[in-house]
Amino acid sequence: MCGIVGYLGQKPSEQILLDALKTLEYRGYDSAGILTLKEREFKRFRAAGKLVNLEKKVLGQESLAHLGIAHTRWATHGPAIEKNAHPHVVGDVGIVHNGIIENYRELKAALEAQDCVFTSDTDSELVAHLLNFEIQKKLTLIEACLNVRKKLEGAYAILALSSQSLDEVVAFKQGPPLILGIGSDEFILASDLQAILPHTTQIVHFDDGDLVSVNARSKHQFYNSTDEKIEKNILTMDWSPEKAQKQTYPHFMLKEIYEQPKAVAEALKPHINLKNHEVEIQGIKDSFAETQKYFAQVERVFIVSCGTSFYGGLYGEYVLEQIGRVPVEVEVASEFRYRNPVLPPNSLVVFITQSGETADTLAALRLAKEAGVDTLSICNTPHSTIDRESDFSLYMNSGVEIGVASTKAFVSTLSVLALLGIMFGKSKKVLSAEEEQELVQSLLAVPAHIEGLLGYDAFFKEASEELSKSKGFLYLGRGALFPIAMEGALKLKELAYVHAEGYAAGEMKHGPLALIDKEMMCVVIAPQDHLYEKTISNLQEVKARGGQVISVGTVGDKNLDEMSNFFIPMPKAHWVVTPILATLPVQLMAYHLALSMGNDVDQPRNLAKSVTVE
Ligand code: G6P
Repeated sequence: MCGIVGYLGQKPSEQILLDALKTLEYRGYDSAGILTLKEREFKRFRAAGKLVNLEKKVLGQESLAHLGIAHTRWATHGPAIEKNAHPHVVGDVGIVHNGIIENYRELKAALEAQDCVFTSDTDSELVAHLLNFEIQKKLTLIEACLNVRKKLEGAYAILALSSQSLDEVVAFKQGPPLILGIGSDEFILASDLQAILPHTTQIVHFDDGDLVSVNARSKHQFYNSTDEKIEKNILTMDWSPEKAQKQTYPHFMLKEIYEQPKAVAEALKPHINLKNHEVEIQGIKDSFAETQKYFAQVERVFIVSCGTSFYGGLYGEYVLEQIGRVPVEVEVASEFRYRNPVLPPNSLVVFITQSGETADTLAALRLAKEAGVDTLSICNTPHSTIDRESDFSLYMNSGVEIGVASTKAFVSTLSVLALLGIMFGKSKKVLSAEEEQELVQSLLAVPAHIEGLLGYDAFFKEASEELSKSKGFLYLGRGALFPIAMEGALKLKELAYVHAEGYAAGEMKHGPLALIDKEMMCVVIAPQDHLYEKTISNLQEVKARGGQVISVGTVGDKNLDEMSNFFIPMPKAHWVVTPILATLPVQLMAYHLALSMGNDVDQPRNLAKSVTVE
């Protein structure tokens, strides 16, 4: 939440900062701002709303300074109005902050007692006040930052400038991500690699407690949490920035939905031996035999994640338990981290995260590590904090995802979990070679099936006006399709801002049936599997009470077609694969409903893609 960036180099900074903010806008888009420093003069631009409002203000007014910091905000303290936008300037100091200062009330009260006047409602502004006090005592910017950070509690990544310290940026962090890019004669500091890679592939990751000073003499110096000077590894990224362009698509979300055949293929690719159609999970142990031995001794799996990644985890429970015969518990990270979970020896805790930076998931990972159990991340962002801190890493390989509501990372997650299920099954010798072959072939067919299902783009475009008349939506599924029902409801809530709930179809009689009338739309996921008849009975109960039905089922199912207002046929597939296919219609439905309501599908209100605060 919130994106921060700083630039110090030879080039005019405003355009560089604006371009970097565009890559960070997914982290928050309530307001944005830029502060530059030239010849002891600060120049600040701030604007409420999307980044485009800031761009309009900056255009033609650039200071051309070679030093600046910038911020894109997701509001925590204080509404999204201009006075709360960062950077905050107090006296000789300007700062941007990502995070939450948890002891801000007491710090603010103490500052007010010293006659400090606050001009915003934010917690962040007090950092500028505290630093300014130190600068007025003639301390250097580094000394000021080293002193002030000792007073801060909570989560922060902060960039600071001082008009008394001409060619210098100081950055420090505890919690949210921060990366230093080292170019030739320039530095760029940012929350995310995507903002840095257009300038340099030489980077340094901050650890919690790190502070760095960069200056115009091309020098950088890191300090650790006990204020000692430290040397840190400079990494060379071996990948070039993927251009985050919409290409011919009207929205990133639609582009990312269309990229799903590739996302699934790329998620599967590293782990399937195409010669013998066997699953060989890479990246755990040095040899495959050791990897198998490792999975064989795992006695219990916990899957911990948030949002869409959590629903991915719920699918994992079905697949790992049924195919791998290993007991699985799935939990949202914000609960797991505070309930002192029992983590027996030989447990493996799996963290699913597109961004690799979600604050609760990261805290849960650290808790599991402290408990001494093994940790595995399934992540879409190599080098992210969760990727770096987990014992083992598997990758979604979806490519950069920009749409705030996750799509392609979800189908990649399901694909990786299916592979894990197979890996457990064969390692524990509960899955036969024939079953493995059948599963692998079904998985390899998914990209082609998804291509076909993309045809529902046109269908939902047409149907969206009719569908938007419903007062609410219930999504029903059983087995491994129950998580897809929940994910479908989440997509609709996030994007269309209408009430939607995902339910296990068997739970209808325990409450939700009371909601059914002719204005309630039920999305029933009912392929012809072993639970088909049961789900059909639930559908009948909805129809009998006047509810409307969109069914997602097996191609050629005339019975289901006749019972439904709209019928969405899918190819017949293995039960492990059907949830991946059923994801397509629920994504496309949410996308088109949101569009028909005039909503911003890439940046839905009140949300952010990377939730780096609690
Ligand atoms: C936010 C995003 C969701 C995402 C969730 C978890 O809420 O809007 O799309 O599923 O965070 O994010 P993660 O990066 O940990 O998967």
